[in-house]
Amino acid sequence: MTSSALVTGATSGIGRAVAHALGAAGHHVLVHGRDAARGADTVAAIRCAGGSAEFVAADLADPASCRALAATAADVDVLVNDAGTFPADGLTPDVTDHDLAAVFAVNVAAPHRLVAALAPRMAARGGGAIVNVLSMAAAHGMPGIGLYGASKAALAQLTRAWAVEFEPAGVRVNAVSPGPTRTEGMERFGPALDAMAAKAPAGRPATPAEIAAAVAFLAAPGSSFVQGAVLDVDGGRCAV
Ligand SMILES: NC(=O)c1ccc[n+]([C@@H]2O[C@H](COP(=O)([O-])OP(=O)(O)OC[C@H]3O[C@@H](n4cnc5c(N)ncnc54)[C@H](OP(=O)(O)O)[C@@H]3O)[C@@H](O)[C@H]2O)c1
Repeated sequence: MTSSALVTGATSGIGRAVAHALGAAGHHVLVHGRDAARGADTVAAIRCAGGSAEFVAADLADPASCRALAATAADVDVLVNDAGTFPADGLTPDVTDHDLAAVFAVNVAAPHRLVAALAPRMAARGGGAIVNVLSMAAAHGMPGIGLYGASKAALAQLTRAWAVEFEPAGVRVNAVSPGPTRTEGMERFGPALDAMAAKAPAGRPATPAEIAAAVAFLAAPGSSFVQGAVLDVDGGRCAV
């Protein structure tokens, strides 16, 4: 039977590259996002490369929509929690109540709801793999991304907790922590992305495909003894 994978935030950037990588690895990919046109583009590109995919829309900030997504994706073998958001003005005095709610709804509550619904079903079918997409902002203090970093730190801790909770039943849970990566979502930062990337030994932003390769590794059977890990994919920033 064909393995299937749900990739949240697969209409753009890193998530789209992950969807491509998992499609190339033979999974039927549920391409999640809100933008149906970009979802259709991602599905078409995967099919064009010989893979199998379909688009599933859901607003992860809305609990009912998130639960509907979990019902649609009930029998996936792989879950990649990639979708993420951060406030336009992230300096602490500028963060609104709406920002506080939205960042934690999409970056923490949505992965929690999806894992709560899907991990037990993976376990009942004999196993599965979950990969969470974090950020180096979870481990480095940086002005303007404190709230965002805190949400990713929460997801890092959930990664460890879920590993202990679900791995005895065969569901591996790991995370990738990307450094600055050139995506549509980062376009608004312009040269600031390069300036941030320059602080790492690699000295440049990642491509989405470089992050996706690490996610695909953690989703594949070849990483069977990697459990509860956070893999830094940040051009060496973790070593500085
Ligand atoms: N790029 C970087 O430098 C970088 C670095 C470290 C970590 N990350 C993390 O990597 C992940 C992907 O980042 P990216 O740069 O590839 O982002 P991006 O290009 O902005 O794409 C974000 C994706 O998340 C989806 N999304 C956002 N809010 C959503 C919501 N409320 N409901 C449903 N889907 C929603 C978007 O879907 P629609 O547009 O279809 O709504 C889109 O597919 C995020 O978790 C981010 O925090 C990125």
